[in-house]
Amino acid sequence: MKKIKIHLICATRPNFMKIAPLYHALKNESWCEPAIIHTGQHYDYQMSQVFFNDLRLPNPDFHLSSGSGTHAEQTASVMLAYEKLLHEYHPRLVVVVGDVNSTMAATIVAKKLHVPVAHLEAGLRSFDRTMPEEINRIVTDSICDYYWTPSIDADQNLLQEGIKPQQIKRVGNIMIDAYCMVQEKISEHCTPEKLGLDYKNYAVLTLHRPLNVDDCETFSKIIHEIGKIALAVVFPVHPRTRKNLEAIGELPTNIRLVEPMGYLEFMSLVSESKYVITDSGGLQEETTYLQIPCFTLRENTERPITITMGTNQLVNINNLLDNIQLPKIGKVPPLWDGNASYRIVEHLREIIL
Ligand code: UD1
Repeated sequence: MKKIKIHLICATRPNFMKIAPLYHALKNESWCEPAIIHTGQHYDYQMSQVFFNDLRLPNPDFHLSSGSGTHAEQTASVMLAYEKLLHEYHPRLVVVVGDVNSTMAATIVAKKLHVPVAHLEAGLRSFDRTMPEEINRIVTDSICDYYWTPSIDADQNLLQEGIKPQQIKRVGNIMIDAYCMVQEKISEHCTPEKLGLDYKNYAVLTLHRPLNVDDCETFSKIIHEIGKIALAVVFPVHPRTRKNLEAIGELPTNIRLVEPMGYLEFMSLVSESKYVITDSGGLQEETTYLQIPCFTLRENTERPITITMGTNQLVNINNLLDNIQLPKIGKVPPLWDGNASYRIVEHLREIIL
């Protein structure tokens, strides 16, 4: 039997955790042949290759080398390169994940060449169209064929936008699959010990949203407010953030800058922390799963279940210090159990075979 070709598109750091469990699950199936397409949106070793190593992914089958640029440049570059590839290698299905520029770019190209597209992590909405990711989510979900969702709110958003119920499959949260897949390796990593930190006696900080880090005054206010916390705060710095950090000058002494970490190293740090302050999307979910309080420095979230059920709270620089005194206790949402990739494979059997 000829194997069915499926393209898995990945581009940035949070995408690699989403395609890894699915790649491994599909690789075990006799009927399909998954191929990894790396668009090259993230390219530094610490933003890309280390995740391939940590998640036991082989080298990408195709690398589009799109790199950085403005939104239009990045989107256009992925579209040009992926269109060329699709003309040569025609898969039966393209799988896109998350909400980055490459997700939207690959979806548009595939759909115009009549290749069906499945969106993993579909239906999330912040209802804030000033976020580039919200535009990417809306465009992707408006034209793709299959919608794999992590939670009931995502199903409801899609139904409200006119997507047919039979196109939607709630599969759960694939990020949790990645965590479960390498959990043992994470606990062997002992990042806090390596950094001389005491168990549950430090916080983790990540910031990279343009809204928080691109304006120097806002970014400086955030950093100085966090400087008032009586706890060591470990801050792995994203390349976008690094550029603006230099403009702030001297940092408060409790903030400890470190380079961006690989997946195992970072999850080891997070899982033993007292709490997390972030503007990341994925980290809101990972902390909910790990039952670690999370304070999200944003006005909204596309992941509301982390607030209604989980340990997440939306905060701003004016109420952050008060809120960290009142951490939430949460529950793990349904289907966040490490088996999302198997539910996807089951669904694929139904729709493809
Ligand atoms: C992108 C995604 C964001 C996601 C984030 C995860 C979009 C619109 N944004 O944001 O949703 O949460 O990835 O990290 O797709 N850079 C490097 N090395 C790299 C990658 C980037 O130095 O490997 C630098 C570049 O100079 C670039 C900047 O970081 O200008 C930002 O990179 P970019 O991919 O444009 O957006 P992110 O902020 O990473």
